[in-house]
Amino acid sequence: MSLTGSVALVTGAGRSLGRAVALALGTSGVAVAAHHHTSADGSVEVVEAIRAVGGEAWSLRADLSDPKEALALVGRAAEACGRPVDILVNSASVYEPSRVLDFDPEELAANVRVNALAPLLLCRAMAAQARPGSIVNLLDARMGDYDRDHAAYHLSKRMLRDLTRMLALELAPGIRVNGVAPGLIAPPNGPGREAALSLAQTNPLQRTGSASDVAEAVLFLLRSGFITGQTIYVDGGRNLRGSVYG
Ligand SMILES: NC(=O)c1ccc[n+]([C@@H]2O[C@H](COP(=O)([O-])OP(=O)(O)OC[C@H]3O[C@@H](n4cnc5c(N)ncnc54)[C@H](OP(=O)(O)O)[C@@H]3O)[C@@H](O)[C@H]2O)c1
Repeated sequence: MSLTGSVALVTGAGRSLGRAVALALGTSGVAVAAHHHTSADGSVEVVEAIRAVGGEAWSLRADLSDPKEALALVGRAAEACGRPVDILVNSASVYEPSRVLDFDPEELAANVRVNALAPLLLCRAMAAQARPGSIVNLLDARMGDYDRDHAAYHLSKRMLRDLTRMLALELAPGIRVNGVAPGLIAPPNGPGREAALSLAQTNPLQRTGSASDVAEAVLFLLRSGFITGQTIYVDGGRNLRGSVYG
């Protein structure tokens, strides 16, 4: 299925994986609303890169911890692009250390607000457009295991995993809803790169993945007209080994 001419809203497009997905869409003929919260410069760079190759793109700011801002974002994206949104990629997330025996209730609420409630509200706003569409939620390859150092984060990601399946049923037949679960993805630079590379040999495929591996999986699901409610693990097989992070 060709994506050319579609309109996509990508949350968290100012950096990392959201940025890679936005660029991959923008260079595939998709008009992109590149959302950011604090990474305004990154979001503007994405817009400029897409426009430099003849594409269409706009930068939009929203704090997705505020349900009102989350609910309004699809409409704002449609207004910026001048036509309705066909594609939603929920990439924005918070990822902070926390343990199940001592996290503050507000820490759990903060993770749920950005990582699960905001994607749900964005999906509802897509449904309110009453037209066909496709949604991909960024999950996490560790969500089925026990990562004891990021308990609140993983609880919120498990919620988003379940929402992905629920929404695939609720929004069918018009809107497909799928997930991509990244694993050990090495950023191109920074301290996170060394940490990821040091774990590469523990992966079944004995290497790390890249942001473009994740973006390719997202585009695959967006192009596949007969897949809904599914999750692709982009993790070199790591989830098959179970609770290695616990
Ligand atoms: N990278 C990995 O190795 C990996 C592994 C497993 C799962 N994932 C999942 O893949 C997705 C992308 O990961 P990433 O590494 O690209 O994330 P990241 O580098 O941690 O960036 C987080 C993104 O979320 C946005 N964000 C955070 N709080 C926000 C808020 N209150 N309102 C709006 N936006 C907010 C940030 O926007 P600003 O920068 O504009 O503030 C940023 O774009 C996430 O859902 C993550 O859980 C990633």
